[in-house]
Amino acid sequence: MDDPFSLMGRTAVVTGGSRGIGYAIARAFVGRGARVVVTARGEGALREAASSLGPNTIALPCDNADPAAIAAMVGEAWRLGPIDVLVNNAGISPFYKRAEHVTVAEWDAVVDVNLRGAYFASVEVAQRMFAAGRGGSVVNVSSVGGIVPLERLAVYSATKAGLHQLTRAFALEWADRGVRVNAIAPGWTETDFTGDLFASRHGEQLRGDVPMGRFAVPDDIVGAAVFLASDASRYVTGAILPVDGGRALR
Ligand SMILES: NC(=O)c1ccc[n+]([C@@H]2O[C@H](COP(=O)([O-])OP(=O)(O)OC[C@H]3O[C@@H](n4cnc5c(N)ncnc54)[C@H](O)[C@@H]3O)[C@@H](O)[C@H]2O)c1
Repeated sequence: MDDPFSLMGRTAVVTGGSRGIGYAIARAFVGRGARVVVTARGEGALREAASSLGPNTIALPCDNADPAAIAAMVGEAWRLGPIDVLVNNAGISPFYKRAEHVTVAEWDAVVDVNLRGAYFASVEVAQRMFAAGRGGSVVNVSSVGGIVPLERLAVYSATKAGLHQLTRAFALEWADRGVRVNAIAPGWTETDFTGDLFASRHGEQLRGDVPMGRFAVPDDIVGAAVFLASDASRYVTGAILPVDGGRALR
């Protein structure tokens, strides 16, 4: 019997694939037989990541804060072969502070990458999927912060809640053309993104808030990504899948 979780012969684009959760997802996809295009802003780290993932990986530098760069990246990726899976993983949260201290520039920076970037990457890829009549899967990496508000992360939480509604809206609009759209909502995960925060005076409390009593590691997130990218989830669209050790239950 065919393995429904196989990604053999599929091509996936993983944004923010140079490290952390995106890198772990790219590695899992390659391990399941996919050809993977990884994107990120920093070119050196991206090329290193791609070469460590092996010959089935291509690096395309792209700043997700720039819709024109996203369009160019998707165009180039598609020229290398049709895309079956897009993982909108690139995301930032460059500050941890109370809402009243956030500046307009800080608001814009987070919204531009987390929400606008995911929107235009999805539309760029989906339109090509429609034109090719192939269908496909979009997997958004959101956050538990899109389900429950996280203190000192109001802007970040709002972008991730917005990404959840984009997930459902795209899923609704695109279901008849065979493009499924789902989201994974990770809980606190040990990556460069959270290193300083977990080591700070807030770290113990954040860990204590997780019902399963530990932070995630990136490999805890990949099973959900493989599921949502593959035929194992072929009748699933518009779903938000928490992978958070129970954090969203609090
Ligand atoms: N670490 C956590 O606790 C956690 C929890 C929930 C959700 N998430 C989400 O998971 C995703 C990955 O987070 P991570 O912890 O692996 O972070 P990370 O900082 O380790 O990696 C982020 C990746 O995104 C890329 N990136 C950042 N800005 C970009 C831009 N403007 N254009 C293109 N690429 C850009 C980086 O180059 C890197 O590859 C993010 O969307 C984040 O919001 C993380």
